[in-house]
Amino acid sequence: QITKNTIFVVAGASGDLAKKLVYPAFFSLFHRGYLPQPTYIVGYARSIIDHETFLNQVTENIPKPADDPTFPAKLERFKAILSYQAGSYDDPAKFQELNIYLESLESNYSGSERNRIFYLALPSTAFVQVAENLKKNVYTSHGTNRLIVEKPIGSDLESALELVHAISQYWTEDETFRIDHYLGKEIIKAIPVLRFANSVTSGFWDSKLISNVQITLNESFGTEGRGGYYDTAGVIRDVIQNHLCQVFSLLAMERPSQLNPTEIINEKVKLLQATQPVNPENVLLGQYIGYLDDPGVPKDSLTATYAANVLLINNDRWYGVPFILRSGKALNETLVEVRIQYKDAPGSLFGNNPRSELIMRIQPNEAISIKLNIKSPGFDSGVVPAELKLNYKAAFPDVFIPGAYEVLIRDVLNGDHATFVRNDELEAAWKIFTPILHYIDGKTNDPRPVPTKYEFGSQGPPELAEFLAAFDATRV
Ligand code: BG6
Repeated sequence: QITKNTIFVVAGASGDLAKKLVYPAFFSLFHRGYLPQPTYIVGYARSIIDHETFLNQVTENIPKPADDPTFPAKLERFKAILSYQAGSYDDPAKFQELNIYLESLESNYSGSERNRIFYLALPSTAFVQVAENLKKNVYTSHGTNRLIVEKPIGSDLESALELVHAISQYWTEDETFRIDHYLGKEIIKAIPVLRFANSVTSGFWDSKLISNVQITLNESFGTEGRGGYYDTAGVIRDVIQNHLCQVFSLLAMERPSQLNPTEIINEKVKLLQATQPVNPENVLLGQYIGYLDDPGVPKDSLTATYAANVLLINNDRWYGVPFILRSGKALNETLVEVRIQYKDAPGSLFGNNPRSELIMRIQPNEAISIKLNIKSPGFDSGVVPAELKLNYKAAFPDVFIPGAYEVLIRDVLNGDHATFVRNDELEAAWKIFTPILHYIDGKTNDPRPVPTKYEFGSQGPPELAEFLAAFDATRV
């Protein structure tokens, strides 16, 4: 655990990831007292900018609360730990200059411990050269070094393995933290607790009673200028192979024998290895009308902005239970949730009733609820569905629920690998999705599949209800 004398170096300091997500998380951790004492944050990128411009880049996305008179003072204190160094990503001399600069900051420390955490907020094409240069020129031998990388880690199994291997020549697995920010979200972290800290809930995971499981990430906005990146990825690489697959593995893994990162990830890996590669027959693809108008997107693009795909698991617990992972941009709502739909009650004593469901609302408004059929109240003897709901904000009004990046940066400081993606886990996830991605890209299929068009603001491709019905799933 790192508690003092730390420098975070953010490579890719003026990119969107750093500005929108990483700096606001640093600010939040800093003013709540969760960063080591002292901490410096050093931006590193190619553009030559002055100190003021860098401060503006760091602070432009930090939310300014209207009701906190101490905010300006907090922001000033935060600014005092920020600085910027310009340099290229391939020139060792620039990294040596960076090292000298870091040493000058470290000369203010008391004690000899020096920790350096390198955050690669960069396009993955720069990962290897930066990882190499950091190791060779900026690695400290007086404390702990850690390297944080983010998706996309490869675009299929082969490229992912190559990238992991190339980085591992310089950084050990223990030093490497691969972020999937969904692992830092409150309800996703709550899944293992709900499952394994309550004996009663093991019944909710009884596959004999489960009809299907739906893991859904719907977004009401389009690509919004990110079309250039998005078009090379598509929805499966963007969020399904990583974020939704992580939720899937936490939901479906067996109970780890102990609560340590190795045991937890071992169980996730076993589950992923037992999961069949996605069958092209079990996939629905869509593209929203208007996507082709994004300036970064080729006018004839066949990239899917919507996908529903079914994962099937070859193990005793889950054999035959479809897990439907679906996501899309430009839909009617922004909503991320898990929905376990149970089979109809046997015997239909009360006629045809809606499904019972366990629902985990990841965002917005974190909640866990159980939908059950109850007697309609009053003289009526019919049946109505009702929800038993735990709404986090209502139940824990005074608790600060940190954002995913706050959680994960703290986990890096604590050296807790449980919320990061291990190399074999990444490999197992790519094995599930690579065949379908190659099929969609036209590498194994000619002609390429054409995604169905859907309206901006709709529920997705018109065939969605039919697709779900084939797996006994209801659209909600
Ligand atoms: C990112 C994707 O990884 O996750 C985006 O690149 C997506 O396209 C985002 O919008 C969703 O994350 P969140 O935390 O906003 O649900």
